[in-house]
Amino acid sequence: MKAVSVFPGSREVKVIEQKEPGISQPDQVLLRILDVGICGTDWEICTFEYGTPPPGDDYLVIGHESLAEVVATGSAVERFQPGDLVIPSVRRPCPHPGCLACRSGHQDYCYTGDFTERGIKEAHGYMTEYVVDHERYLNLVPPGLREFAVLAEPLTVAEKALAQVSWMMRQRPPWLDPATPAEERGRGLSALVLGVGPVGLLGAMVMATAGFTTYVYSRELPPSPRIDLVTAIGATYVSSQATTLADLAKQVGNIDLVYEAAGHSHFALEALGWLGTNGIFVLTGVPGVQAFTESDSARRMRDMVLKNQILLGTVNAGPDDFASALRDLELFRQRWPEAVQTLIAGRYPPEQAPELILGRQKGIKTVIAFDSSSG
Ligand code: BGC
Repeated sequence: MKAVSVFPGSREVKVIEQKEPGISQPDQVLLRILDVGICGTDWEICTFEYGTPPPGDDYLVIGHESLAEVVATGSAVERFQPGDLVIPSVRRPCPHPGCLACRSGHQDYCYTGDFTERGIKEAHGYMTEYVVDHERYLNLVPPGLREFAVLAEPLTVAEKALAQVSWMMRQRPPWLDPATPAEERGRGLSALVLGVGPVGLLGAMVMATAGFTTYVYSRELPPSPRIDLVTAIGATYVSSQATTLADLAKQVGNIDLVYEAAGHSHFALEALGWLGTNGIFVLTGVPGVQAFTESDSARRMRDMVLKNQILLGTVNAGPDDFASALRDLELFRQRWPEAVQTLIAGRYPPEQAPELILGRQKGIKTVIAFDSSSG
């Protein structure tokens, strides 16, 4: 079977042939991969800045945003049957008995850093025809979401962030009603999303759905399908080429939440200076090496203290975040049917994966399809 792989030693990205895997433990499930999304992390792995092959291998099969179909189940598998659609999670726990996060099924909060991530860190990924995984790492997808479910993994980034942010917002500020229903968590508050890549756009959809008055700020100028999507979901798009952050802050008023999805450290640091009183700044980007920059750290520190601000980093996702992502995808589909159609730029065969990952992304999300029946 085909597997899109990166060879860091020889600096190559190519499609290789591999033997099909089989079930060897009772809790395992054999999956046929349908879709795999391409993201910035894949680009970093394929430019040899990030990612690590499994111990003993000189290559890594990439791909972590996936959608698969169950082909066969081990004798102890209870939740799945052949034909079910599933999304495997990415991170696997570290082996250390003392890691409370991993030992309690919360490997997205691993303390030791010795976790593995399929398609990223020391474990082969999903950009291949068949994989085997343990039942506990799979999330069931409603059949109606076949076309868009590959977006669930990048959507979990925003879901995890919102879960954290709404918890904090219920604890503080104290005048917000802790009993506010989940779908109105952002009512009366503003959210500023930085970046118009898939993580930024899906983040904007999550924030708008939660009731935040949502702004999206990026370099992009019209005409652009990304800007059209922002407008279609009722958010306001502002280009950094036309408006400074200072002017944007005047327009927004108190910026209650910043959701950073641009992966640019200087831009993030600059935006942090415009976070409002009692605001929360969420960082989701994982930048590679970027130019060193000086910043007014005393001013940042003074602001954060005097304005009760929170700086929150968030990575990976747990089962609850996958469940919320699948719920929200269905909601987005009902609420913005046309906009959701534009999220997936196209489906391409695995042979084109290397050039698509390394080239400039044309639409919003490019998908590698292993199911030749999908168009
Ligand atoms: C993936 C996460 C992963 C992170 C860091 C992201 O692209 O979606 O699952 O934890 O990269 O490796």
